[in-house]
Amino acid sequence: MDTSSYKPGLEGVIAGISAVSMVDAEKNELLYRGYDIHDLVEHCTMDEVAYLLLYGELPDEATLEAFNQRIRMDREVPPALYDLFRALPNTAHPMDRLKAAVALLATFLPEDETNLRKAERLYAKLPTLVCASWRISQGQEPVVPDPNLDHSASFFHLLTGTPRTDYLAHVFNVTQILYAEHGFNASTFAARVTVSTLSDLYSGVVSAIGTLKGPLHGGANEAAMEMLQEIGSPENAQEWVRDALVQKKKIMGFGHREYKHGDERAKIVKGYAKELAERTGNALWWEISEIVEAEMLAAKKLHPNLDFPVASVYYLMELPIPVYTPIFVLSRITGWSAHIIEQLENNRIIRPGHLYNGLEKRSLAPR
Ligand code: COA
Repeated sequence: MDTSSYKPGLEGVIAGISAVSMVDAEKNELLYRGYDIHDLVEHCTMDEVAYLLLYGELPDEATLEAFNQRIRMDREVPPALYDLFRALPNTAHPMDRLKAAVALLATFLPEDETNLRKAERLYAKLPTLVCASWRISQGQEPVVPDPNLDHSASFFHLLTGTPRTDYLAHVFNVTQILYAEHGFNASTFAARVTVSTLSDLYSGVVSAIGTLKGPLHGGANEAAMEMLQEIGSPENAQEWVRDALVQKKKIMGFGHREYKHGDERAKIVKGYAKELAERTGNALWWEISEIVEAEMLAAKKLHPNLDFPVASVYYLMELPIPVYTPIFVLSRITGWSAHIIEQLENNRIIRPGHLYNGLEKRSLAPR
């Protein structure tokens, strides 16, 4: 068997052409529709970035106002969704509850709308679903969405009953922008594969949610926090990492298929992890993280990816660990949708070949 054309994990294979974002691993640069993520997190809200990713340009004031109106008035979900959350086991992972919810929600939404409108609907309704799912699993009532709040303030309102517009809301906004889009990552690719069959946007998003859940992808933010908890103390950190590497374990929140010299997104959030440690007076996770990071660099030349600092940042925001990956969905829905729309604008079914290593042809004896 000639395996020379086979690339495990499709590493280095060009699987499409896209104008949504540019990842330049050599320059450590990430651009959304041409804008550097550093500029976006400094000057924009997630709502503006959502518009940028979906429509290709940043909105002017009037356009943003109209977009906000559409999103904020569309946060409510059919009551059947709350019934679904009550019917599902409380112990089911929030990503599985979300996957079921988006599949059900899709059956209530008009089929004949544009994909942009469908994408807006999901961007509006996903926070309601994620937060209601979590609250119901914890024996609490869901919160009725407030159309006066922006994406970040509304998220805290839907999760806790109280909106936030303070420093924590700002940090949340930054993480949402950084989670919004990232080229041909696994979940985006899954979404593109799904719609390349001319299936619908909602089906593409359900595929993407299932793909994001894995700990090698979006699930790494939860796994990274669980790892920090298991390490428990700065004194334990170096030995813990060394032992894990001897056992050939993956250290969650480290490494990346594209970035080999560090992930700019992680560097941005790391600054907030430090500041939050100072503001909250809880430096434990910061101290452990610093040792894990130094050890990983020394032992494997691997840098943290975005999920590593996000884990401790969300923990210090007192967000429940099982909703970290669903939170990722709340902004990545814009990147997924932009890619789905782009795929369908110039579609060809995505259907790669494979090498066969099964049995030789054999005869079937009469039975
Ligand atoms: N911990 C320990 N070793 C790691 C590692 C990690 N997090 N990430 C990569 N490596 C090692 C691999 O074991 C391999 O070493 P080897 O050559 O000695 O066998 C080498 O680095 C190359 O890694 P590989 O797994 O082939 O890279 P990939 O491009 O296939 O995988 C990831 C990329 C992101 C899936 C991988 O780095 C990983 O599993 N990271 C942890 C999960 C995570 O944080 N995911 C979120 C990504 S944003």
